[in-house]
Amino acid sequence: MPAVSHQLLLRAVREDDLPELHRLDNEVFESSPYSYLVLRQHFDAHADHLFVLSEGESLRGYVLFATSSDRSVSWGLSLAVARDRRGGGLGRMLMNEVLDKLREDGVQEARLAVEPTNTAAIALYRSLGFAPEGKDDNVRRDYFGPGEDRLLMSLKL
Ligand SMILES: CC(C)(COP(=O)(O)OP(=O)(O)OC[C@H]1O[C@@H](n2cnc3c(N)ncnc32)[C@H](O)[C@@H]1OP(=O)(O)O)[C@@H](O)C(=O)NCCC(=O)NCCS
Repeated sequence: MPAVSHQLLLRAVREDDLPELHRLDNEVFESSPYSYLVLRQHFDAHADHLFVLSEGESLRGYVLFATSSDRSVSWGLSLAVARDRRGGGLGRMLMNEVLDKLREDGVQEARLAVEPTNTAAIALYRSLGFAPEGKDDNVRRDYFGPGEDRLLMSLKL
């Protein structure tokens, strides 16, 4: 039987992606994944700014932004690339796709919160034009609860 080769495809999320999206999110964010309930709610509310990288039946990455109704700001809620696919430009591809869509939709600013030790993500965001908010790369203590400090970054679109 010939081997089936599946190509990576960057596309808008579909409802039937939810179980696989949940699996990928658990794989990437082991200690703090979204519950299925929260992922479903994000899908219901923000599917227009949720893109996935599919490969056959599997998902290898996704990006999710949540946009305010007046389109003044969109918050990055998740960016994930499967561990064995990192370093190949997929994170950048996902970010460019969602930023293009935000611009097309007239959103004025993108913001996100990133762990101050997450050098890969911070380098990616900086290379896309995001800059830390506040003076001196101010890290917000306990931003997501006790011990969960975050660096806030933003980009005018
Ligand atoms: C952050 C993440 C999405 C990057 O995805 P990726 O596909 O590996 O990234 P890319 O290959 O597109 O690299 C894009 C840029 O990120 C930076 N980068 C990627 N890996 C890096 C590393 N190990 N060290 C430093 N910078 C790195 C570089 O600036 C790179 O640009 P370059 O290739 O021109 O040097 C991925 O590491 C990931 O899923 N991490 C776990 C989840 C996470 O931390 N998400 C972000 C939450 S805020």
